[in-house]
Amino acid sequence: MRIKKQNTDYQVYRLLSEKQMSGEEIGKRLGITRSAVWKAVNKLRSYGIKVESTARSYILVDESELNPFEVADIAFKRLDDHIDEVIYYETTDSTNERAKECGKSKVLVFAELQTAGKGRLGRKWESQKGGLYFTLSLDPTLEYSELPKITLAAGVSVAEAIPEAKIKWPNDVLIRGKKVCGILSELYGEMENPMIVLGIGINVSNPIPDELKDVAASIGEFFDLSRKEVFDSVLTNFGKYYQKLLEGKWGVLRKKLLKKCETIGKVVKVTTPAEEITGVAEDISENGALIVNGREVYAGDCIHLRDSK
Ligand code: BTN
Repeated sequence: MRIKKQNTDYQVYRLLSEKQMSGEEIGKRLGITRSAVWKAVNKLRSYGIKVESTARSYILVDESELNPFEVADIAFKRLDDHIDEVIYYETTDSTNERAKECGKSKVLVFAELQTAGKGRLGRKWESQKGGLYFTLSLDPTLEYSELPKITLAAGVSVAEAIPEAKIKWPNDVLIRGKKVCGILSELYGEMENPMIVLGIGINVSNPIPDELKDVAASIGEFFDLSRKEVFDSVLTNFGKYYQKLLEGKWGVLRKKLLKKCETIGKVVKVTTPAEEITGVAEDISENGALIVNGREVYAGDCIHLRDSK
C-alpha cells in the first residue's frame, strides 16, 4: 500500500495521533466534509487500526506495534524533506529491489518480511517477521565520492539507537559481538546521474536461524525494545546525520563513528574485490575510508583478528 503525505487517510491519522478530535474539527482542519472524515476513519479501520468513536470524538487507540500509517508518520516526521511517500508491504522479495523499481527518490519502502532479502557481497539476508526491513530511496544531491558516507551515517544512526551497540567497519552493527543489523546501499541508474537506495535490516524480535546463532542475534535477546522505538530512533538519528552530510559537516559524523566503531585498534583482515589486506585498523580517514597499515580502504569484507596491543 502507498501512503503519501497529502493523502486524506494519512492526514486524519496524523491529527488523531496527536489527540482525540471530533469529525467536525478534523474536517475543519483539513478542509473536508465530515462524511469524508468518516470515510477516512473507516479506511484506517479496514487496515486494522483501532479508532474508537464516542458521541463527541474519534480516539486513536495507541498500540505499541507498527502499522503502515505509523511507519509513514515516523518517516514523514523524522525525514521531513527527504521522504514524501511510503510503500508498505506485508511481504515482498526485497525492499531494495522494490525501491529501485519505483525509480524515484524520496520514497521509503518497508516490509514486514522479505522472501529474498539481499545482503552485502551477494549474500542472503534472513528476514523473518519481527524484524525491521526498509529501504530509503534518497535524492542524490551529494557528490559521487560522498555517497559511501551515507551508508556510514546509517550505521551510526542504528548503533546510537540501540544500547551497547558497536559498529564493525564499514557498517555492521553488533551487540556483544553478534550482528543485529546490516546495511546494503546500492547505486543504480545512469553513471552521470546515479540514484541511491539505502537498505537497512535490523533484527528486533525475529527468530535467528540456528546456523547463524553464533554470529547474529536479535535485539530482543538483550533489551526490551519495540520495533516502533527502534524505527523511530534510527530515522531520527539518520535525519540528523544526513542533514549534516548535506551541510558538508562530515567531521561531526566521523567523530560519532569513531566513538562507536570497534574495528579501530584491531588487527583486521579486509577482503576487497582486488586483494586481501591484513594489518592494524588505525583510523577512519577524512574521506570516510578505513586506514589499515597507513592505506585507505574504501570497501570490503572485514574480519577482526585480535586487539593490536
Ligand atoms: C548485510 O549483508 O549486512 C546487509 C544486509 C542488508 C539487509 C537489508 S533488509 C532491507 C533491505 N532489503 C534488502 O534486500 N536488503 C536490505
